[in-house]
Amino acid sequence: MSDDGVRLWGGRFAGGPAEAFAALNDSLSVDRRMWREDIAGSRAHARMLTATGVLSAEDGRAIDGGLCAIAREMEAGDFAFQPSDEDIHTAVERRLTEIAGDAGRRLHTGRSRNDQVATDVLVYLASTCDGQARLVARLAAVLLDAADAHVDTLLPGYTHLQRAQPVRLAHHLAAYAWMLVRDRDRLAWAAGACRAFCPLGSGALAGVGFPIDRGMTAAELGFDRPGPNSLDGVGSRDALADYLHAAATLGVHLSRLGQELVLWSSEEVGFVELSDAFTSGSSMLPQKKNPDAAELARAKVARLVADYSGLQGVVAGLPLAYNKDLQEDKHFLFDAVDTLDLLLPAMIGMMEGARFDAGRMGAATEDGFLAATDLADHLVRLGWPFRRAHEAVGALVRACVDAGHGLERATPDQLASAGLGDVDLPEMTAAASVEAKLSTGGTGRAAVLDQLAAARVALAG
Ligand code: ARG
Repeated sequence: MSDDGVRLWGGRFAGGPAEAFAALNDSLSVDRRMWREDIAGSRAHARMLTATGVLSAEDGRAIDGGLCAIAREMEAGDFAFQPSDEDIHTAVERRLTEIAGDAGRRLHTGRSRNDQVATDVLVYLASTCDGQARLVARLAAVLLDAADAHVDTLLPGYTHLQRAQPVRLAHHLAAYAWMLVRDRDRLAWAAGACRAFCPLGSGALAGVGFPIDRGMTAAELGFDRPGPNSLDGVGSRDALADYLHAAATLGVHLSRLGQELVLWSSEEVGFVELSDAFTSGSSMLPQKKNPDAAELARAKVARLVADYSGLQGVVAGLPLAYNKDLQEDKHFLFDAVDTLDLLLPAMIGMMEGARFDAGRMGAATEDGFLAATDLADHLVRLGWPFRRAHEAVGALVRACVDAGHGLERATPDQLASAGLGDVDLPEMTAAASVEAKLSTGGTGRAAVLDQLAAARVALAG
């Protein structure tokens, strides 16, 4: 048995918990970061109990003063946690009782740790979502700044990582900006889900036998309304799942961007140079400049996806309402929060310092086959059925590949044997190819300028 002091629920028990059980059961190391939200929740609860006459004004004052004193101790870093503090909720209440005596012992009237923890975590997560949504918007803006500077920088666009058609670098960067706009929106949606319903006042599961005013605590803590069902209020973690889903999808996007930067910064490709501030050297190889930040962006998605699946795995199959399993929710939640808090500022800094090599990109569009589709399109405009055009251009490509040069240098013989001897050829340059793309969302100059402006509007929204 551990003899580590008094537990809040000790009355029913003849002895204390075994050390091994206490170690398994306690969650303080994980949930202590929610001390602000826990104190705010307790202050709101006590104020409401006082306003509704459940507690005397005198007790209300003693509780509020005690909670403010605890907040000061926490802020100063000299709050003395005790071994018997199972979680942040018990720590705060234990200390309040030391400071305010019986008034402190009255705080938990009409409340359970079940509705308390559900409330704390939603308040914590709502503002976390707000902050991370702002960071995501900032990263999108940095990508759009780079896009503005590279409207006329052309590079090969790829499918299957094979050169396909030329695109504007602005177009490519804006693709990531659009993903991030959606990520920002998903985070904002998750913040809204956190604030939609306040669990406080659900009690342990069935509601509360005092004349509480749930609207008052909900409003004070920034929620839209009290939750309509107490079992759902203490037993659900959907808003956490909404956040973790948003985080996982954001992680996928950052991973793809990270991978492109790793690839693009290789000597073989050389499309980008990352700043010294976001790369590292090798302890053995003096020439190395490793794109670690991009690699870590590529890797972190694994834990973000695991965090989402971990939370859902814990909640799935749980009978209503609260089960101790739910305490595990915060491991996954905070891991994702911390991962993005590390990753987003690094991605912003890395993208701000990235220098794109327009020359290398342009060279990669030359003397190849990027105009093959444009040539086929040209034949279609001359009246050829697309399939015949495709076939003829394919034959010409094969002849050029065999001869070791690109389409632009096709000889009259090669053209003739592909059945294109009499055709007036179009300009087969990357510049002509991108300019031909008039469709909305495409890589033509006007379309790209349009979407850059639209992305700015979406980001401001
Ligand atoms: N530490 C717990 C959690 O995070 C608080 C709720 C505990 N409730 C209970 N009835 N034991 O979920």
